[in-house]
Amino acid sequence: MATSLISRQLALSLQKNLWLSAPGCRHVSKAAAKTQVEFDYDGPSMKTTVPGPRSQELAKQLGDIQNVGAVHFFCNYEESRGNYLVDADGNRMLDLYTQISSIPIGYNHPALHKLMSNPNNLTTFVNRPALGILPPDNFPDKITESLLSVAPIGMTRVQTMACGSCSNENAFKAMFIWYRNKERGVSGPSDEELTSCMINQAPGCPDLSILSFMGGFHGRTLGCLATTHSKIIHKLDVPSFDWPIAPFPKLQYPLEEFTRENAQEEARCLEEVEDLIVKWRQKGKPVAGIVIEPIQAEGGDNHASVDFFSKLRNIARKHGCAFHVDEVQTGGGCTGKFWAHEHWGMDDPADIVSFSKKLLTGGYFHKDALQADKAYRIFNTWMGDPSKNLFLAEVLNVIRRENLLEEVTRSGKALLNGLYELQAQYPGLLSRARGQGTFCAIDICDDKTRDRLLLQARDKGVFLGGCGDRSIRFRPALIFKEYHVHLFLNIFNDLLAQHK
Ligand SMILES: Cc1ncc(COP(=O)(O)O)c(C=O)c1O
Repeated sequence: MATSLISRQLALSLQKNLWLSAPGCRHVSKAAAKTQVEFDYDGPSMKTTVPGPRSQELAKQLGDIQNVGAVHFFCNYEESRGNYLVDADGNRMLDLYTQISSIPIGYNHPALHKLMSNPNNLTTFVNRPALGILPPDNFPDKITESLLSVAPIGMTRVQTMACGSCSNENAFKAMFIWYRNKERGVSGPSDEELTSCMINQAPGCPDLSILSFMGGFHGRTLGCLATTHSKIIHKLDVPSFDWPIAPFPKLQYPLEEFTRENAQEEARCLEEVEDLIVKWRQKGKPVAGIVIEPIQAEGGDNHASVDFFSKLRNIARKHGCAFHVDEVQTGGGCTGKFWAHEHWGMDDPADIVSFSKKLLTGGYFHKDALQADKAYRIFNTWMGDPSKNLFLAEVLNVIRRENLLEEVTRSGKALLNGLYELQAQYPGLLSRARGQGTFCAIDICDDKTRDRLLLQARDKGVFLGGCGDRSIRFRPALIFKEYHVHLFLNIFNDLLAQHK
């Protein structure tokens, strides 16, 4: 791989010159100072339209085994590096989607390769333990070095899990267990509770609820799905719980230009939250917890103000509900702080914070009070994977060593400013540019144009994702520099010029 990379560098420097002389590039972004990521490629390189013939062939082959309706193209992970994803046809794309926002420091980062090739780590990769019963002897140290070093304020306990959905699913269970224990006080469960729970009946299976928000996404497993309200396709045909759903503020952007209107909208939503909590208590289905994303991601990159989150936190406290912040998509540094909720500047932002994606392992941090009181109440076979903690510890080293949170803030500013400029240039096409760090989005005039632009951008060597009804979301890795921002803006500007 190394030799092919060196020979490619020559060809790429030629090709880069071509990119910079492409039409339209001067409109938005001046040539940026090139602070190149050491192991990155120089730019996109496209050989076919995407999916190319090899990807199509593979889709046919896999189609005989699975539903491949969601497959974009097949990838060559050996050749992918840094900010670039290479597909099975040899097309190299600047990746602003990063496996649904889950690649923290780019493809094939040398630090992670080094960790893999260290013989001392071999057994961790070879032997996947049932962590809940037989953890490895270095587990307390490793989890302290990795996850606990980024614990949200006020939390010293963490439960690892495998993915985002199972993290949320178990976080919900922890909130229900906490709530019932709080109600019981010192007395344990009654005989009636012990027998009724086995046949899914109250009081053993109590009618408690979780309040969630319209447009929210917390996963696709059964419990999580009851709190997910972003797309019909996730929900159709699946039985669900009668749990309260509050409106999430529909704000106008840029936020600082619409503070009065947005404050009114947020006040309306908060009032509704309190009404729902009261209503569900009266219905006999009290709200044990409130779950919310700091920025609604799948639902369309919807933001809310610090004031909104602070008041919501107070409502949760006032009504005795646990407050669960789902940082599965926002966590890990992409907003310019390690956790998006850090932007709120609160002393006591949450009772539970769930994570996955960029943290490589799933799980949730929680306050001491939300520790399940007995073994096996929060449990499954793997409960995470210690090899992912090894990777995470190294990812955190890289983030600190390379000041990646500052870099994200810098690249994020350049990206958002570039989007503002494009929005001013193409008002009929683009609107509502918004973002925090590189966690940015922009709306396109309609869903068909959005979908077409995503495909056209891909053919020009930029891989992007959509979210909500008609938004494009930007989810680059933390090593996405200003140089990459300008590369993207130039290509995107050319595309938009064709749509005029
Ligand atoms: C905020 C949020 N919560 C939960 C999930 C579910 O995570 P997973 O797909 O790993 O189950 C996602 C996935 O996109 C998410 O964005």
